[in-house]
Formats: sequence, structure tokens, C-alpha cells
Amino acid sequence: MALPDDFLQELRLRNDITGVVSNYVHLTRRGRNLVGLCPFHGEKTASFTVYPQTESFYCFGCGVGGDVIGFIKRAENLDYIDAVKFLAQKAGMQMPENSYDDSMQKLRVRIFEANREAARFFYSQLSVPAGKKGLEYLHSRRLADKTIKMFGLGFAPDSWSALTDHLLEKGFKQSELIQANLSSRNKNGGLIDRFRNRVMFPIIDVRGNVVAFGGRIMTDEKPKYLNTSDTPVFKKSGNLFALNRAKNSKSDKLILCEGYMDVIALHQAGFDFAVATLGTALTQEQAVILKRYTNTVVICYDADEAGQKATSRAIDILRKEGLDIRVLTVPDGKDPDEFIKHHGDNGYIKFKQLLEATGNDLEYRISKLRRSYNIQTPDGRVKFMTDAAKLLSGVDNAIERSVYIGTLCMETGVDRKLFENEVSKNLRRRYKRQDEAEFKRIRQQLSGEDARLNFGEKKKVRAVRAEEALISYLILNPDMVRKVKEKLPPEKMVTEFNRQVYDILIQRIISGKSCTVTDLSSELGDDGDAKIAAMLANNISESNSLDACNDYVNIILDEGSKRSAEEIAMQSPEDIQAYMKELKEQKNKKR
Ligand code: UTP
Ligand code: MN
Repeated sequence: MALPDDFLQELRLRNDITGVVSNYVHLTRRGRNLVGLCPFHGEKTASFTVYPQTESFYCFGCGVGGDVIGFIKRAENLDYIDAVKFLAQKAGMQMPENSYDDSMQKLRVRIFEANREAARFFYSQLSVPAGKKGLEYLHSRRLADKTIKMFGLGFAPDSWSALTDHLLEKGFKQSELIQANLSSRNKNGGLIDRFRNRVMFPIIDVRGNVVAFGGRIMTDEKPKYLNTSDTPVFKKSGNLFALNRAKNSKSDKLILCEGYMDVIALHQAGFDFAVATLGTALTQEQAVILKRYTNTVVICYDADEAGQKATSRAIDILRKEGLDIRVLTVPDGKDPDEFIKHHGDNGYIKFKQLLEATGNDLEYRISKLRRSYNIQTPDGRVKFMTDAAKLLSGVDNAIERSVYIGTLCMETGVDRKLFENEVSKNLRRRYKRQDEAEFKRIRQQLSGEDARLNFGEKKKVRAVRAEEALISYLILNPDMVRKVKEKLPPEKMVTEFNRQVYDILIQRIISGKSCTVTDLSSELGDDGDAKIAAMLANNISESNSLDACNDYVNIILDEGSKRSAEEIAMQSPEDIQAYMKELKEQKNKKR
């Protein structure tokens, strides 16, 4: 993974982190640093910080951080090497040749090529006799030839190895076809097509690569849809069908559907901003991606029980990203595709009316509650309002709460003050639960169950914090490494990760190399930059003097020599509470 140092240095210099980040985030200056709204999670106050001094960024809200490469990795959804290429290209630099292990990258490219060729093959089958039934099926679903072409739909013939043979002839290797999940081995060791006798829906990522396929059977047999399993270029939970098209829509919204056919029918009808998950429930990762392209998501799931359950789950997930949510319920138990088909030429107008009439997620939940009770009776009203109070206590925005408290009290004739009290009671309960959850989380971190924050491994928090402060100090003052090393040999470091970083720092300094976040993380591998950026962000305003540095060293040595009995004592509730308080204060200080 390691690229030559001089290349990375050039890359850093030509891609100043402030400039690069500014293309994605509106930054304003705060002291030495710059802050803005985090592009990686929904927030209304800026906790995303860029540190020009260390050429790193960190978000105090979601804990994401890194160097300029790490930023591009996340912002453009690329892996490390692709992010480097992206920046190199932007700066007009040539990638160094054979300087890194690019076998995985080469395989990915081959899979993209195989998929593209497969999509061409499937499409071409629609116009040969063997594929006639595929074309007829698509027509029976009211898809126009133009739509079929636009989405690159196709047909996998009723044959054991038509595609496999075709691709082998085109020069693809057996192993490539298997890794692409286009072929699989049969009992005799021969290759057979994964998709047979199905109409095919290519899944194309936002960069235009064919990453996977869905194939629908044309009868009532099961499974109805067969999809590409996860491959080196495809993860179901991180892709959305038709986002490659929807991202170019003029609409400021995205419609989120359940199925391929719903999306295609909507696009054909003129709603070119529809996307779908790929046969799984919406994931947080997909919500993050949606947030990159829009602020408003219209959930448009099937009207059946399962669809409504999925709607509730999706609302929770989308809310976490700070998205505005609308819920569109298609009448008469139809899915969007059936609805549009049912209305024929009026499909566009009819669906547009539904779209314009959508309520927000809170309205949706309230009306769902309302339907479950008979609010004509006193008993029904009591139950309805009791549940509504619980629902409203989940809303963070006080104005939003107040508006709905008003309308609900009007509707049911319940006294406003009384109802407000009920909501507040529930609200306090929720905050208490949240605090408890936070408490539990920190406790787990300290006991090593969660090593994410680097506090793990059941080591002493005091030593860990000193290590992090020391490493931050050394990154800012690399000249001091030689001196510190005399007093503190690497094996004295308490945590594994910090020891590794410290080791790299020493090695690099001894061989006269630079020690930026980018340099270190290129040696540390995946997410090394994120961990270091987090350390720096949490220490950069701490004391930066030589005295402080000596203190850190002494604490580490001191703690290292104590026995581990204290480790357990450290995890008493009081200690954790004190620690939480400290963390909070530190956070506030930095804002
Ligand atoms: P549905 O069963 O609602 O199908 O599945 P649909 O979209 O209405 O399909 P048509 O109209 O009958 O053709 C919704 C989505 O769930 C995934 C697919 O992505 C489908 O579009 N799915 C469903 C599967 O992956 N496998 C299955 O067997 C069924
Ligand atoms: Mn359908």
C-alpha cells in the first residue's frame, strides 16, 4: 500500500487540504482552524474542523477524521488508492508505476469490464430469437423500448453457459467471472451462468460502472429476483439502484422505493429522481449517500404491512442523517409501478398529486396512530394522545413539537398544558435513557469491548491519554522524537496502535523522513489517518511545551509500571462519570 514518500509529499502540497475540503464544505475561519457543517453526518451547528497546521480534519460530531486522502476517500466514496489517483489527476500528476500492490485494483477493473460486457450481451439478447420472450415480458410490464435502452435492461438466455462462453471468448479468465459473480462452478468443476432465463437489470454506480445485476424470473417461481452477491466492486448495503440517473435530476428531492420496477416505472413516467435499495432494508450507509445528493427523501414503499414496517425503520435511519422526510402512501395497496400502470396516460398527474400531498414523517406517524384507535370514543382519545405524547418526545426540534402539540390538542380537545406536561415527562425519560446509553458505551470502550476510540485493550485511560497527547506533540514537533525515544522506548507504550505509530515516527525520523498524517497513515493502512486525526483534534489545543511533553513521558512510564489491579478500579461508575464529564468539557472548550 505504501506509495513513495516524495510522491505523497508532492500530492499533499498540490492538494492543500483547506482548498480541497472547500469544494465540499463551506468553511469559515475559527482561530487557526476552519470549521463548517460536516458533510458526513447531518448537523446544524458546525463541528467539522480543518486543521491547516497538521493538514488534517476531524468532526467532533461524528468522529470522522483524516488527511486530505482520507477526506476524498469518504467524500467520493473511494478506496485509498482510488482517492490518491483522484487527487493526482486533479493536480495533473502521474501515478508512480508498480509502486504499490495493485492486484486488487486490477481485479476490480477486470470485474467492471466483465460486467459491462455482460450488460451488453444481455441487452443484445433482446433482439435475437432466443430473447424474444424477454423483450415480450418487458413490454408486458409496459416498458417502452426507450426506457429499456436507457436502463440497459436485457435478457439472460435459457442456457447453462451462454454468457460464460461469451465472456471467456472475450478473454476473461474463469477466476474473474467467478469473482464477478457472473459464473459459478458446477459439481463437475465446469462454469455455469449465474443468471439464466431472467430479464436483467444492471446496477450502475454513480461513476457509471456496471457493478452488479438483478435478474427477474418471468413466472411465479422463486426466487423472484436473483441479485449479484457482494463482490470486490459491489456491496448491496452501500449501493442504490438508479442513483446514477437520479443524481442528475433537476428535482431537489429523491424518492426512495422498494423495487427495480417501481423505480423504472417512475422514471418512465417522468419522475427521474427515484432510487431503490437492493432487496434489503435501508442501511445507515445508504442514508449517508442519499444525504450527499439531497436534503429531502420521499419514502415510497409498498402499502402492505411489511412496507409500513420498513417505512418506520427507514424514518429512523434517515432522521439520523438530518434528512427531511416525507412519506408517500400509494392508495389501494398498490406499489408505485402498479399505480402508474393502472392510471395509464394519467400516471404522471396522478402520482404528482400523491407527491404533492405527502406529509412529513411526523404526520405520517401520527396518522398511523390515529388509524389504530377509535378517537370518536373517550377511551380511544386517551390512548391516542398517550401514544402521541411518546411520539412527540422523540422529536428534538422544540418548534416542531410545539406545532404538533397545538394541532393535536385542538383535534381532541385535550388541555394543552396537560398534554405538554405529558410530552415533557416522556422527553426527560428519553434523555435519561440516552445518558445511560452513553454511559454504557463509554464503559464498554474503557473495558476494551470497543477499540474504536483507541482507549481499548483494558489499558489505563491516563496512560492512553498521555500517549495520544505525546504522539500529537511529536507530530507537531518531530525534532523532539530522538530525545523522547531515549527516555521512552517504544515497548513502554501501553496501547498497541499508539506503539505502532510511535515506532513509525521513530523509524521515519531516524531515516530523515517527514512525519505528516499522510506519511504516517500510508504506513498504517486503512483508517490509520482517521485515528491519528482524532488524536490530533483532541490534543491540538493542549499544552504544547517541552515541559508538557516530559509530563506525558513520565505518566506513561509511571502508569506502565503499576499493576493492573487499578484498571478495574478505573471502571467504577464514579470514575467513568468523572471521565465523561472531562470529555464533555474538553469538547465544549473546543467549540
Ligand atoms: P417485491 O416483491 O415488492 O417486487 O420486491 P417488485 O419490486 O414489486 O417486483 P415486480 O413488480 O413483481 O417485478 C421488492 C424488491 O425486493 C428485491 C428486489 O430488489 C425487488 O425489486 N427482491 C424481491 C429480491 O431481491 N429478491 C426477491 O426474491 C424478491
Ligand atoms: Mn411490483
